[in-house]
Amino acid sequence: MWPEEQIQRRLTDGIGEAIHSDAVIIRRLVPDDLEAALEIDSEVFGGYDPNIFAAFYEYHPGSTLVAEVGGKVAGFILGFKHAPFECRVFWLAVKPGYQCRGIGMRLMLGILKIFRNMGALRATLEVRVSNKKAQALYSTLGFQMIGIVPSYYSDGEAAIIMKLRL
Ligand SMILES: CC(C)(COP(=O)(O)OP(=O)(O)OC[C@H]1O[C@@H](n2cnc3c(N)ncnc32)[C@H](O)[C@@H]1OP(=O)(O)O)[C@@H](O)C(=O)NCCC(=O)NCCS
Repeated sequence: MWPEEQIQRRLTDGIGEAIHSDAVIIRRLVPDDLEAALEIDSEVFGGYDPNIFAAFYEYHPGSTLVAEVGGKVAGFILGFKHAPFECRVFWLAVKPGYQCRGIGMRLMLGILKIFRNMGALRATLEVRVSNKKAQALYSTLGFQMIGIVPSYYSDGEAAIIMKLRL
């Protein structure tokens, strides 16, 4: 069984989450979500240009997702297909008060399913060398480190490149 299937099973086992008031809904981002997504981005110090969010919504609407909890946007993920058989996770963020509740994992599971439906055979992403939490999330899903790019980020930090065979 793929790591994703095991995780999906674990997340849906137990209490009937769908009837729980804190149920996490993963859905496509709509224009009304942009403000909340930008707020989350600034809270986690993403610092991305608002135009990037609008561009993802416009050009990659099928792989621009939000996690909604109790009617509020609690996280988002931006992904796209950048080669015939390869998709890339561009940015993932969960609102600080909602972290460590499985929302990042659910967003990843959601986008990986979409990537597969797009015909991708691989998913890649970059993560800061210091971001152990995100690295743990990706490793749990089966992503493997395939390289390091020195000075990848504007502050000089290196990026770890990770890849998952879909
Ligand atoms: C990284 C981030 C998206 C994770 O989202 P999250 O909703 O907190 O993650 P989840 O609750 O789904 O946790 C999934 C896995 O991440 C890892 N993880 C989560 N919280 C962790 C913590 N405090 N310490 C270490 N690992 C942790 C674990 O592997 C966890 O799996 P487990 O629950 O089986 O142990 C979130 O912390 C975030 O938005 N960070 C700021 C932005 C960022 O770094 N984005 C990633 C860019 S590459």
